[in-house]
Amino acid sequence: ASGGLRVRSAFRQGLFTDKVAIVTGGGTGIGKSITKELLYLGCKVMIASRSEEKVRTAAEEMSSQIPTDSSAQVRALQCNIRKEQDVKNLFSKTIGEFGKLDFLVNNAGGQFPSPAAHISLKGWNAVVDTNLNGTFLCCREAYHSWMAENGGVIVNIIADMWKGFPLMSHTGAARAAVDNLTKSLALEWAANGIRINSVAPGTIYSTSAARNYDPSFKIFENQVPFIPVKRLGNPCEVSTAVCFLLSPSSAFITGETIKVDGGQSLYRNSFEIPDHNKQPAYDWEKLIEEEENDGSPKSKL
Ligand code: ADE
Repeated sequence: ASGGLRVRSAFRQGLFTDKVAIVTGGGTGIGKSITKELLYLGCKVMIASRSEEKVRTAAEEMSSQIPTDSSAQVRALQCNIRKEQDVKNLFSKTIGEFGKLDFLVNNAGGQFPSPAAHISLKGWNAVVDTNLNGTFLCCREAYHSWMAENGGVIVNIIADMWKGFPLMSHTGAARAAVDNLTKSLALEWAANGIRINSVAPGTIYSTSAARNYDPSFKIFENQVPFIPVKRLGNPCEVSTAVCFLLSPSSAFITGETIKVDGGQSLYRNSFEIPDHNKQPAYDWEKLIEEEENDGSPKSKL
């Protein structure tokens, strides 16, 4: 334990002692921040990612920082959430290792900026497969492997797609679907003692997210004028909302989505529409005039 975990929390240290969580995409960015805060709170965390190396390195780094007197533990498992067998393996290994499962955080996701007109079927399917189908598979496996019998709490990480998501239509569609899935499952699984909510981050800067996008697009910096608080968000500002939703403090909250976006979703759309006249008004007066003139537009002179 060298120096301890570089994390603080609004929540009481030890709050999640003897709790067990799965965090998909837990090795980088928002997922890593969620994992660190859970560890600070005493949780045992299995982080899962498609990239074996990324998730292992992250787990080793965080593990070495856990104080010796803490009940927290972190383990890593390679898992492509698009694959049913990988997902089954993730849940059975986690329960095998830690003996139970209290929390699932569906954080793994991914997308690439592109005009919808230029998204291939393969690209579209890949994004929907990860962000929607992967989340569904993890929820369903959490249910069957543990939570149907024992209850639990699920948090889905979605996105700021409330005014549409131009240039990110695939992930916008998938995240909106997860928002709705959250509500369906909150109802279907309430009687099992399961709560399920979403967190919808706005523009959150992390070095790992920045690496996924071409810096010349300045996709983070360019958003600042459209964010009422006039700055980008931090991963820890998302993780604190996730920890609240996992904690007993939110016992009466289910089927809900918390936006963590500095007010961006209430404000201006950053997508610019060029001036054009391609959208003529519907006007029956004009139609009647045209009919009276045998279909030829009537001269105003
Ligand atoms: N992170 C991004 N895509 C993923 C996937 N398919 N499985 C697990 N983690 C991921």
